Amino acid sequence: MRALRFLTCLPLLTAAIAAVAQTTHAPTVAAAPDPALDPTRVFSENCAACHQEDGKGIEGAFPALAGDKFVLAGPEQVIHVVLEGRGGMPTFKADLTDAQIAAAITHIRTSWGNSAAPVAPETVAAIRTGEAPKPDATKIISAH
Ligand code: HEC
Repeated sequence: MRALRFLTCLPLLTAAIAAVAQTTHAPTVAAAPDPALDPTRVFSENCAACHQEDGKGIEGAFPALAGDKFVLAGPEQVIHVVLEGRGGMPTFKADLTDAQIAAAITHIRTSWGNSAAPVAPETVAAIRTGEAPKPDATKIISAH
């Protein structure tokens, strides 16, 4: 009788062991980079239609981000423009997460010869929540 009870428990036991084994292996899976956060990809899917893959924009319509002083200056006002939009630029606050916005801005600050510091999701979160002071995003510094 006792042996039978033990036998009925076996499948459960095997499942438990399998679950533990899976948890042990989870970090290897989590270490793979999340394609949804790949800076080039986030830029291509959300920004390149206007600003172009080469960051040169379209003259008279979409400003170039390559060599753009506004993009290369402190990241706060760039984050603000992407969150809230400005002029013909749409808002992205409802469509992109802090991590995605950080990825897109990191792409525009580190591509096409641009060499400004990458942006962390925490910095985007602070501007989104109003924790950081509101930057002046109204001025267009570059000449386009
Ligand atoms: C529908 C077209 C469109 C899309 C999509 C778009 N932008 Fe823009 N963007 C614009 C326009 C138009 C302006 C100029 C706005 C103005 O004159 O105030 C602009 C301005 C900017 C500026 C300010 C440049 C400057 O010198 O002042 C930055 C930075 C920027 N966009 C980044 C991005 C990023 C990053 C994305 C993707 C997350 C993106 N944009 C998606 C149209 C777009």
